[in-house]
Amino acid sequence: MSELAQAGAARRGVTEVFDRRYADLCVALESDSRRRHLPGQAGLDGAAVDFSHNDYLGLARDPDAIAALCETARARGVGATGSRLLSGDWPEHAALEAAIAAAKGTEAALVFPSGYQANATALAALLDRKTLGAEPLLFADRLNHASLHHACQLAGVHQLRYRHNDLGHLGELLAKHADDARPKFIVAETIFGMDGDSLDMPALAALADAHSAFLWLDEAHATGVAGATGQGLASGWIGGRGAAMGTFSKAIGAQGAYVACSRAVRDYLLNRCTGFIYSTGIAPAMAAAVHAVWNKLPMLDQTRARLMARADAFRKRLQAAGLDTGSSTTHIVPVIVGSDARALELKAWLAARGMIVSAVRPPTVPPNTARIRIAFAASHGDAQVDALADAILDWHATRGA
Ligand SMILES: Cc1ncc(COP(=O)(O)O)c(C=O)c1O
Repeated sequence: MSELAQAGAARRGVTEVFDRRYADLCVALESDSRRRHLPGQAGLDGAAVDFSHNDYLGLARDPDAIAALCETARARGVGATGSRLLSGDWPEHAALEAAIAAAKGTEAALVFPSGYQANATALAALLDRKTLGAEPLLFADRLNHASLHHACQLAGVHQLRYRHNDLGHLGELLAKHADDARPKFIVAETIFGMDGDSLDMPALAALADAHSAFLWLDEAHATGVAGATGQGLASGWIGGRGAAMGTFSKAIGAQGAYVACSRAVRDYLLNRCTGFIYSTGIAPAMAAAVHAVWNKLPMLDQTRARLMARADAFRKRLQAAGLDTGSSTTHIVPVIVGSDARALELKAWLAARGMIVSAVRPPTVPPNTARIRIAFAASHGDAQVDALADAILDWHATRGA
């Protein structure tokens, strides 16, 4: 321990009461098998095969992206050096935003340092009741990402939750409020990160049109892997209907996020979105790296098709043995095992066989639906995927049934 740390420890009297409370919570989480730990990269070195990362297309190590990152950092520095509204606005931002808007079919786009920030603060800004003239009615998929819930909390807007990916239920809720003149929002992910199912865009667009609702779609897990040229499921649908956000932290292999929207929404966010105004802009070097990857997306059709075919074959094998893969239809496949302890047991079983998966537990997913989440990526070979299925089926036969 450093001298400074020792001095801090000697003063502990003040913070002891606080520390004890925080520590008690972690102990309680431990006894519920819900305590989180940072895993480091220890399990990921050497021979272990990682099915937990979100670098779906292997672009985190794309040589053109790395070159763009380094060259731009040399020219501009490592960081943006300020809020975009002050010193932190660079040509790389505008170039990336233009490319994203063109691909999504929207008038404009705005980039953010992270997806969480984009969802939590840009959506919250759009929900502002003073601007809208009334508290909006917000219809939300009940399994939406935490950042989308955070936006509603920040804006103080009550969510009308519909059953997961059940557009029939959404339609019923919208019909029930058809005579309510308040502005309406529909908020959903286009590929759900924990379930791997996707939104029916034509049906959703029809509902939004029929009820004049503003769509806020989260393309975190669709960007790069879904849609005609890999630019997400909302591309071509969202223009004139609302806004689509997506992160650069998954298939793009980088960091940051976008909101694709109308010019009016972009301008409003520049003036009212606290997470944009009071935060340093995404590093221009990162924007350049993302742009290099973004330009490649249309050329990766075969990679995307291979990913989806692998996931499909894997799902079929597991389902044939009676395992529950939920409603997954994409490259993300949950194996739902029920209790937290069973999810951790299966994760450990696979780790012992050199395979890394994440165990996802409540509150990230609903109670009694703890699962391991498998994310297929371009880096996986057929033999590795077969070995993963074999190991899960072995577990199921010996322990899981
Ligand atoms: C559906 C969804 N939305 C938003 C985010 C946040 O994105 P980021 O990692 O860029 O903050 C994530 C990532 O965990 C996500 O899965």
